[in-house]
Amino acid sequence: MRRSIIIDTDPGVDDALALVYALNCPAVELRAVTTVHGNVSVERSTRNALGLLELAGPDLDIPVARGAERPLNGLSRREADFVHGAEGLGETPVFAPRRAPDPRPAWQLIRDEVTAHPGEITLCAIGPLTNLALALAHAPKIARQVAGVVLMGGAVDVPGNITPQAEYNLWADPAAAAAVLSAAWPVTLVGLDVTTQVVCSREDFAQLAQQAPRVGGFLAQAAQFYIAFYEQAAGIPGCHLHDPSALIALSHPEYFRREAMALEVAQDGEARGRTRRASAGVGPQVEVLTGVDAAAVKRAFMLTLCAADRGPVPS
Ligand code: RIB
Ligand code: CA
Repeated sequence: MRRSIIIDTDPGVDDALALVYALNCPAVELRAVTTVHGNVSVERSTRNALGLLELAGPDLDIPVARGAERPLNGLSRREADFVHGAEGLGETPVFAPRRAPDPRPAWQLIRDEVTAHPGEITLCAIGPLTNLALALAHAPKIARQVAGVVLMGGAVDVPGNITPQAEYNLWADPAAAAAVLSAAWPVTLVGLDVTTQVVCSREDFAQLAQQAPRVGGFLAQAAQFYIAFYEQAAGIPGCHLHDPSALIALSHPEYFRREAMALEVAQDGEARGRTRRASAGVGPQVEVLTGVDAAAVKRAFMLTLCAADRGPVPS
C-alpha cells in the first residue's frame, strides 16, 4: 500500500536526493512539501524545494509551504552552507521557480492535510523540527491523526556531526525536537547510527548522471560540493545519504533493525541537541533505528534515482 507523506525539509543536497527518491518510489505518494530553516535560510530552502519539484516532477502540482525561519525560543542558528554550498545545492545554477509557495505557513498546511485525512498521512521530517513542533502547538490533536512520523535526526550510540555530541537537525532546534519526541504520536528516528553507514561515491553519481542525464545529472552536479566536504571532513570516499535513508526507512522498513526507547534531548550548553536514552518511564517510547542493511539501502536508492528521468510515479 502506498504511504501518503508530507516531507518537511531544508534542501540541502541530501534533502534533494530524498525528494527525488520520494517522487520516484512507488511505495510513497508525496502529497506536500514544507520548508524550514536549517542547511540554508528558509527563503533558499523554499526556492530550492520549488525548483527541485519543477525539475523532477514538472507535471505535478505538489504544494510547497514555507515554514519557520528560525528555531523556537530565538535560539542561535548556524547554516550548514559549508556542507551544502551557499545556495544549498552545491554549485548548481540557482533555481528561478515558476510556481509560488502555498499561501499557508508550513505548520498550517501540515495541520490541514493531517486533519482532512486522519490516519493517512506520514510526516517525514528531514530538517530541523520547528514546523512539526509549531503544528503540534497549534493543533495538538494531529498527534492522534497522523499515520506516523519518520525523522532524520539524532545520534544515540554514535558521535554527532555538528558537535561531537549532537546531530545537526536536533541541534538546530532542540526545543522543537523535545516537543516532537515527547508527543503521543508514533515516531521512527533515523539517526546517524544508521545513516553514516550508507555512502554514495563519485562513481555512483557518475552512474546516476549517465542513467538519468536530466535529473540525475543535476543531482550529481549538486553532490560534488557535498562529497568534497565529506572526503575532507570525514575521510570517506563519498557522502552520507542521511535524508534518503529516512525515506528508505519508510519504503523498506525491512532493511533496518530497531529498538524502542525513550529519548532525552539536551537543550543547551556543550551537549545541546544530544539524544540519549532516557531513564525508564521518562516520556513516550520512540522507535530508534539501530542497524541497517547498507547495501540494500544503497541498491534501493540507486535503482529509484536512476529512473528519475522517466518521470515520477503517477498518483
Ligand atoms: O545531520 C544530517 C542532517 O542535517 C540532514 O538532514 C542534512 O540535510 C542536514 O539537514
Ligand atoms: Ca536535511
